[in-house]
Amino acid sequence: TIVRISDDALARAAGADALAQAFESKGCEVHRVSSWGLHWLEPLVEIDGPEGFRGFGPATLADVDAILDGSSDKAVGAIADHPFLAGQVRHTFSRAGKTRPLSLDDYAATGGWAGLERARRIGSEAIVEEVTHSGLRGRGGAGFPTGIKWNTVRLAPGARKYIVCNADEGDSGTFADRMLMEGDPFALIEGMAIAAEAVGAQQGYIYLRSEYPDAIRKLNAALDLCADIIAPFACEVRVGAGAYVCGEETSLLNSLEGKRGEVRAKPPLPALEGFLGRPTVVNNVLSLAAVPHILAEGGAQAYQDAGFGRSRGTMPIQLAGNIKYGGLYEIGFGISLGQLVNEIGGGTASGRPVKAVQVGGPLGAYVHPDQFDIVFDYETFTEADALIGHGGITVFDDSADMGEMARFAMEFCAAESCGKCTPCRIGAVRGVEIIDRIRAGGRSRDRVELLGVMHNAPKTAQRNQADEIALLTDLCETMKFGSLCALGGFTPYPVMSALRHWPGDFTEDGAVVG
Ligand code: NAI
Ligand code: SF4
Repeated sequence: TIVRISDDALARAAGADALAQAFESKGCEVHRVSSWGLHWLEPLVEIDGPEGFRGFGPATLADVDAILDGSSDKAVGAIADHPFLAGQVRHTFSRAGKTRPLSLDDYAATGGWAGLERARRIGSEAIVEEVTHSGLRGRGGAGFPTGIKWNTVRLAPGARKYIVCNADEGDSGTFADRMLMEGDPFALIEGMAIAAEAVGAQQGYIYLRSEYPDAIRKLNAALDLCADIIAPFACEVRVGAGAYVCGEETSLLNSLEGKRGEVRAKPPLPALEGFLGRPTVVNNVLSLAAVPHILAEGGAQAYQDAGFGRSRGTMPIQLAGNIKYGGLYEIGFGISLGQLVNEIGGGTASGRPVKAVQVGGPLGAYVHPDQFDIVFDYETFTEADALIGHGGITVFDDSADMGEMARFAMEFCAAESCGKCTPCRIGAVRGVEIIDRIRAGGRSRDRVELLGVMHNAPKTAQRNQADEIALLTDLCETMKFGSLCALGGFTPYPVMSALRHWPGDFTEDGAVVG
């Protein structure tokens, strides 16, 4: 009997390794595959039978015998037909749940290397044309057209160019990069090799966060296994040291060069002066991993055909936080937030009403259920004063204190600031203080006097809550428009959205929001 159990870190954390051993000791042939991304069912066991593979989950050691004799009450049927998967359009995660991550045979048997082979045939200019035609935009968050970025590097003068993969997935509630790297590492490597072919690069680096030991191990093993296939392109894993801001591309490049992870001013763009001052493609894991499918015959058109407005292709959306059915949901842009949270995600895990949803990581806006008809699309989110970011959706029920969450956003920014610019370095600290004063009723005399000095106001002035809120709004404007990078520049999104939608969580009477 063949049994499939994921070796993804989430499945392992939930007990997949012990389960695999248990099935092996019963004489089963256990295949450690990637995860389908149905997280609430992990560890998921799929067992081969007369009707194909049938799933059971979440499985425990106590379920092993019942799963084998068919009497288990954890049966969930054929996973490929599961409703959570049925509505998905999987390009980037087409192998998820189906292949063994480090098997070159599995990879080749599922279309692996076809994109690279074709890329080598058609040459650099045509590769860039295909990627441009697909409509692929940077999946790290900013949504910059990948084809245009590659063309800038391709046309940049210089003999040495680099491909850098940003695998510093720091956003809370996101895990698509991790799942891809652990589940389909050759796809990322193939995407990087195609990028190298497109721009004339010889060397690549995967800047991977230290918090992902399984991904580090698997990518290193995968690079060893496919070194001959991607040659003359060579690629190495470099491990980060835990700073959130190193996910910002220029800070990442400094860190990669062995320097302090401090943000660099742009221009110059990394595309022209990046790693060691050379032209460099810096792309997120998901952007690069989408490329092999795009470069395969007919792939660019298929990718372009999915999507909405100017957001073409698919987005691997990550459903997390207080949600009943959390996991990875890849679909073309255009799906509404309400569908994702209530229909697909099944509402909160706690069963209480949804209060807020944060989209786009800790720098993303808090979205109110009243806004649930907005669709997943870069432009629509921008119009709603929100951002898609890296596609993370974190759900909160009605027990969440949004004033506390706004405070956390400022606190996070203060802790993670690289210190290069004033609005972020100092603004975030002041932001925590102001929110504390608002929540305390706006009456802290000492601090009011200090503020009076800062703002040239009479020292005796007693600020009330309305003044404090006006000050917070003003500070957020300064951070938004005066910060050098997205960390300081986007922190106002969670703060101001929380204040706008849930004023009662800041002040007792819920009043005074201008
Ligand atoms: P950005 O808009 O400055 O740049 C986007 C990309 O396009 C960069 O790689 C930039 O170098 C490139 N670019 C811009 N103009 C170009 C041109 N003319 N030619 C070639 N390349 C060009 O945005 P940034 O600061 O890189 O990213 C901000 C985003 O990062 C935010 O939207 C946020 O959602 C996201 N983010 C993602 C996180 C994650 O964990 N994935 C964490 C924090 C923020
Ligand atoms: Fe550094 Fe913050 Fe300025 Fe970004 S906004 S450069 S993290 S100080």
